[in-house]
Amino acid sequence: MNATTQIELIQPDDWHLHLRDGPQLAAVVGSSARIFARAIVMPNLRPPVTTTDQALAYRERILAALPAGSLFQPLMTLYLTDQTSPAEIERAKASGAVFACKLYPAGATTHADQGVTDIWRLQPVLEAMRALGMPLLIHGEVVDPRVDIFDREAVFIEQVLRPLIDRLPGLRIVLEHITTAEAANLVRAGPETLAATITPHHLLYNRNALLAGGIRPHLYCLPVLKHERHRLALLEAATSGDPRFFLGTDSAPHPLRAKESACGCAGIFNAHAALEVYAELFEQAGALDRLEGFASRHGPDFYGLPRNPGRVRLFQDPWTVTLSYAFGDDRLIPFRAGELIRWRAELVQSDTHDLP
Ligand code: NCD
Ligand code: ZN
Repeated sequence: MNATTQIELIQPDDWHLHLRDGPQLAAVVGSSARIFARAIVMPNLRPPVTTTDQALAYRERILAALPAGSLFQPLMTLYLTDQTSPAEIERAKASGAVFACKLYPAGATTHADQGVTDIWRLQPVLEAMRALGMPLLIHGEVVDPRVDIFDREAVFIEQVLRPLIDRLPGLRIVLEHITTAEAANLVRAGPETLAATITPHHLLYNRNALLAGGIRPHLYCLPVLKHERHRLALLEAATSGDPRFFLGTDSAPHPLRAKESACGCAGIFNAHAALEVYAELFEQAGALDRLEGFASRHGPDFYGLPRNPGRVRLFQDPWTVTLSYAFGDDRLIPFRAGELIRWRAELVQSDTHDLP
């Protein structure tokens, strides 16, 4: 049987993306806008995007940084803190530009120091979100340094997420960038209001890749890469056709100097090749026919947004990833730098819907 050499998909969206700001934003936004119609934009800037006004201003900066003619739509999020009020959630919803709120346990990851210290204190905010149908996006790791770093997601699920689901039924929750079999199982067995995003890097690599012949800072992200058994569970979930699993790249660029350092930052930049890497993975799993659901249908369906009218074509035409990109006053080392990628993606049509 001949291998598939070309497929067409509804234009996909990225449901978890870091675009940064200023010259860094200008350097990376085109990589996402090249293929994705929309993206849920993470609010972990410095200072974080905690108010609707800040989200609207950030949205304008993103639109201004887009390549000429791009129809890419940034879907904004608010960064929850101990001070977030239910009134701010109402303003966010009324703006029509904010599509979710992000929960970072304080200190869990890059720029999470102003995150939430005790989720139960936010109960009125979470109730407002539930009433307004505003999804809660969760970085699902405990921050207790006594918990082994490879166990922090599984412990978060037991200590925080299960009680949250029980206490606030109906709240729409996306467990972001899942990395464990425990997370995949929780979502599969959970209510319809619970979903998860899965990154290309957690589908492609296990934790050995971090220490392959030496320390590999460009594969360091949070949650950290896990054991092979978890990677296989994620691959199974992503390619299963279950509509609660969808594409979120967690593309998270950092300057070379901040990655190749005695204390390197967490985050992998993959926007330049994300859809193509997912295509390789789905192809290897014999599930190319399920890529459209994961990349283009499950996300908008969960968020209650229309699927994109545009289309993309994926075809087999191997290309080599650039070794580095300009990134503000530094360089950016992309995911799979210098490696061959078998698939190439291009837009067929790029119409977009007007947002509600
Ligand atoms: C992200 C970043 O750099 O903003 N880093 C990462 O390793 N994924 C933050 C995050 O999503 O945890
Ligand atoms: Zn992220």
